Amino acid sequence: MQAKTPSDSITILTDMVLPGETNPLNNLFGGELLARMDRAASIAARRHSRRICVTASVNNVAFNKSIPLGSVVTIEAKVSRTFRTSLEIFIDVWIEDRESGEKIKANEAIYTFVAVDETGRPVEVPVIIPETELEKSRYDAALRRKQLSLVLAGKLAPSEATELKALFI
Ligand SMILES: CC(C)(COP(=O)(O)OP(=O)(O)OC[C@H]1O[C@@H](n2cnc3c(N)ncnc32)[C@H](O)[C@@H]1OP(=O)(O)O)[C@@H](O)C(=O)NCCC(=O)NCCS
Repeated sequence: MQAKTPSDSITILTDMVLPGETNPLNNLFGGELLARMDRAASIAARRHSRRICVTASVNNVAFNKSIPLGSVVTIEAKVSRTFRTSLEIFIDVWIEDRESGEKIKANEAIYTFVAVDETGRPVEVPVIIPETELEKSRYDAALRRKQLSLVLAGKLAPSEATELKALFI
């Protein structure tokens, strides 16, 4: 399988916040943003693997800024690291100032997808080669996040989480 770069999977979704997608404070409902990010991440995972990809876990979501009704929201998703069958996707969320057009970072999230065949069985994905400094730092930290996710899911014994243990030694 031919190696790919994060830019091969880049997926950008731009949309508006409409009434019916907001909470009582007239800001975007968190679950609505999670769904939009899941959709973008799913497309990025598919672009990298050219396979059916399912969400295995949401590793981190930081709702740093509320997103008001009427905002133009841009969600950018890219594969940050691959393992054997799983892919980590980094998602950056931006809103733009109506008058100046300036982009403001609102949120970010990290999802894990697994590539599967038609029967739902995990299949191997191409390796990824990070290019920019940001891509390299996200790539380097991804194994730590994978181990944390597996420990929290009860799929890896804490004693086997070598990358996590290294943080404390
Ligand atoms: C995700 C899924 C395919 C994993 O199947 P599984 O039987 O656990 O398969 P494996 O144990 O072989 O794991 C496959 C990969 O997933 C990774 N994985 C599984 N659970 C994970 C988790 N919680 N966090 C991070 N990675 C996880 C494994 O580490 C492995 O990665 P690797 O091959 O790159 O090393 C399976 O649990 C599934 O189909 N879940 C439902 C997915 C779904 O429907 N999502 C939408 C939610 S409605």
